[in-house]
Amino acid sequence: MKSDLVLVTGAGGFIGGHLVADLRRQGYRFIRAVDIKPFEDWCQIFSGAENLSLDLNLRENCLRAARGARQVYNLAANMGGMGFIENNKALCMLSVLINTHMLQAALECGVERYFYSSSACVYNAEKQKRPDCPGLKEEDAYPAMAEDGYGWEKLFSERMCRHFREDFGLQTRVARFHNVYGPFGTWDGGREKAPAAICRKVIEAKASGRLEIEIWGTGERTRSFMYVDDCITGIGKIMPSAILEPVNLGSNELVTINQLVSIVEEIAGVRLKRIYNPAAPQGVTGRNSDNTLLRRHLNWEPGIPLREGLAKTYAWIYDEFAKRQRLGAPLIALGSRSRCDTQSLWPAAPASGSGP
Ligand code: NAD
Ligand code: GDD
Repeated sequence: MKSDLVLVTGAGGFIGGHLVADLRRQGYRFIRAVDIKPFEDWCQIFSGAENLSLDLNLRENCLRAARGARQVYNLAANMGGMGFIENNKALCMLSVLINTHMLQAALECGVERYFYSSSACVYNAEKQKRPDCPGLKEEDAYPAMAEDGYGWEKLFSERMCRHFREDFGLQTRVARFHNVYGPFGTWDGGREKAPAAICRKVIEAKASGRLEIEIWGTGERTRSFMYVDDCITGIGKIMPSAILEPVNLGSNELVTINQLVSIVEEIAGVRLKRIYNPAAPQGVTGRNSDNTLLRRHLNWEPGIPLREGLAKTYAWIYDEFAKRQRLGAPLIALGSRSRCDTQSLWPAAPASGSGP
């Protein structure tokens, strides 16, 4: 019902911002948008929504957020690309507090339907050891050997969704997103994923005239990348569906990182000298999405071509980069090597002796 109160957590983030925009386009009148970040740091913010800056690690804030809501889209998590998740495993696992308290709050507040954003990082590492490995089917998450930290937390939270549905009747739906990219995504600072990072590095190389690019690993690892519009369409289809078990939501257009770089170079009209950094975070060797289950249930799968999505993403990052240059902000990382932002969204620990 368009008059239902809908809660989006992580609404100040990349996908959450696009989701709020889409719900508004669909005519939802009562949207509560919650994120831990101060409003000025939200990727997108809409005056028509009830915007709240709350730390959802805390149970009372989850109750505040869920009160009166009929639907919950729980997207809040401490996350990023390989540069972040490989160096912040404990922080990633602490997102279990958000998911635990949000599920409990949803139950207590009588929420009817609950969407949880899981990840392809739940899949067993053994199934991702070759660049040409077959697409991951949902059952490939077991026996469990998920990505350290972030992937284990997602797998645990998926299972909590399942048990809240089975034991308490809360209608949960879970999608495993495969690497999502697009405008408003993080493109610098250490949390950015490969598509945005490569766009930024190509733009920086052109701006500085230093025509080289650092690529993490050998460039031969493979991934599929899903444009954010497909992700939002998929969430909209999965939420009201009868798909009870976690389902892949990803593109199956598999590319090597070298191919990703070539596409961005072509969009930018430049060729760069490639410098490979084997010491940088790399993750699994190959990962693709098998969309059989998604197609069977929805007769739909993500289909926006990578070239098309990257052109829009590149244009957006280019404008953001130019804006920063005009404002005179330092051109961070011009031709730089790997940077990793280990800054956390977790409150700083009290200085020793000053705690309660
Ligand atoms: P994002 O980092 O842009 O958004 C997540 C938001 O959650 C951030 O704005 C962050 O401030 C917020 N958050 C973190 N801790 C919080 C807390 N304690 N209380 C309230 N808000 C908090 O990431 P995204 O790409 O938009 O991802 C959205 C969801 O999708 C996440 O759950 C992520 O794990 C999942 N996912 C994303 C991808 C991807 O490629 N983007 C892939 C797999 C899964
Ligand atoms: N981030 C980044 N930056 N990756 C690079 C770069 C670079 O400059 N150069 C090459 N890569 C390589 C990485 O080494 C990795 O092998 C590959 O590109 C993909 O890296 P990411 O996009 O950072 O992450 P991912 O695909 O391994 O995992 C992401 O997707 C998951 C879902 O599929 C992460 O965002 C996870 O958090 C997410 O759940």
